[in-house]
Amino acid sequence: MSRRAFGARLAALSAGPVLRFQPPTRPLRADGARVNAALVAFDAIGRTPGGINRVAYSDADLAGRTFALDLFRAAGLRPRIDEAGNIVARVEGAEPRLPPIVIGSHIDSVTDGGNFDGPVGSFGAIEVARSVREQRLALRHPLEAVVWQNEEGGTIGSKLAIGALGGAELDTVARSGRTLREGVARVGGSVERLGEAVRGKGGVHCYLELHIEQGGTLERTSRQIGTVTGIVGLRWFDVAIDGFSNHAGTTPMDQRQDALLAAAKFTVAVNDLVRAEAGRQVATVGRIVALPNTRNVIPGRVDLTVDLRDLDPAVLDRVEARIRQAAAEIGTAGGTTFSVTQSVSSKPAMSDDRLMEAIDRSTALLGFSGSRLPSGAGHDAQEMAQIAPMAMIFVPSVGGISHSPREFSKAEDIANGVDVLLNAVAAADRL
Ligand code: GLV
Ligand code: MN
Ligand code: MN
Repeated sequence: MSRRAFGARLAALSAGPVLRFQPPTRPLRADGARVNAALVAFDAIGRTPGGINRVAYSDADLAGRTFALDLFRAAGLRPRIDEAGNIVARVEGAEPRLPPIVIGSHIDSVTDGGNFDGPVGSFGAIEVARSVREQRLALRHPLEAVVWQNEEGGTIGSKLAIGALGGAELDTVARSGRTLREGVARVGGSVERLGEAVRGKGGVHCYLELHIEQGGTLERTSRQIGTVTGIVGLRWFDVAIDGFSNHAGTTPMDQRQDALLAAAKFTVAVNDLVRAEAGRQVATVGRIVALPNTRNVIPGRVDLTVDLRDLDPAVLDRVEARIRQAAAEIGTAGGTTFSVTQSVSSKPAMSDDRLMEAIDRSTALLGFSGSRLPSGAGHDAQEMAQIAPMAMIFVPSVGGISHSPREFSKAEDIANGVDVLLNAVAAADRL
């Protein structure tokens, strides 16, 4: 259903007698303690001296998925793995033919990450589905709790679920060293039957995701809950720089084709050009591999990554063009060749007004302080926004730290977020 059609349907529902449920005057409560207990137990999976390492398709990721499957079962739910490798469990509603309300997040991590980015929303979704079942809350719509596979590698599971990925893209090598194709099979999906996991427009009533903020706004402004207004679009680039490896002692300084020097200049140029104009756009050179990576040889080849983000596609286009131009200029000046390839992209997504209101109202009903804010991190929610109305709930991140072993959110804040998710689901069910 288009946003306009959704809005029209909402207007019709709120005006006419078809509205079956009155807004609750008393808030619903989930059991946040169960979510926090699961998070504590989950912390042991993929824990290394450098942080949490549950990169998608690794052994630790598989162990995490087994943990999640057990948690679904302990909640009285029957999880299945869809053809894309996402874990899904459904609680039937009073009107089973209606499209489901989908809630969820992910459990894979970045390299040397933390235990809260993803698991909070995944276990929160399982808890909400459990509360709906245990408390016999009469939802009209079916409710589906989902753990998406490989969020950190570019929202892969949710992209597959909306049919936005396939063909040669499945040969992309993930952080674990396995291709997406191998990964889908490894987590129990089926590359041959990926189409069966696709949800089209109108196939989902709405999508809600609980997540840690991963920034410091809520903490700084002493707010307990964030209603996310939109999610940045992101573009990831693989940059290969070819120079010429030669002797570090005998090659004069003016006769070098040093790929690492070019990479250094490019890294500074990316930072400078992004900062040169006002706005919230960000770009990061995050990974760099120099060859032959040895003391007394001029580096002949560098591979590096660029991560570019903004809410406005026009800004992304403009900054991308400048990045490509900087690469060409630095290449020409230093006798190196740059090749810039886009590996992953996700579109910016704006949250649905009615769902944001549902979250705001739930926050107020529960007596929490809230505010609206955009998300600088990517989320599966932005993929789901391509096919359904979407909104997200943020809880504070201590110190605004994330994608780090020091990532932490307080148990009380997490429990608050789970309660807001439950109430928001109940409110969304009436839309
Ligand atoms: C995912 O967490 C991202 O924002 O990169
Ligand atoms: Mn993340
Ligand atoms: Mn995340």
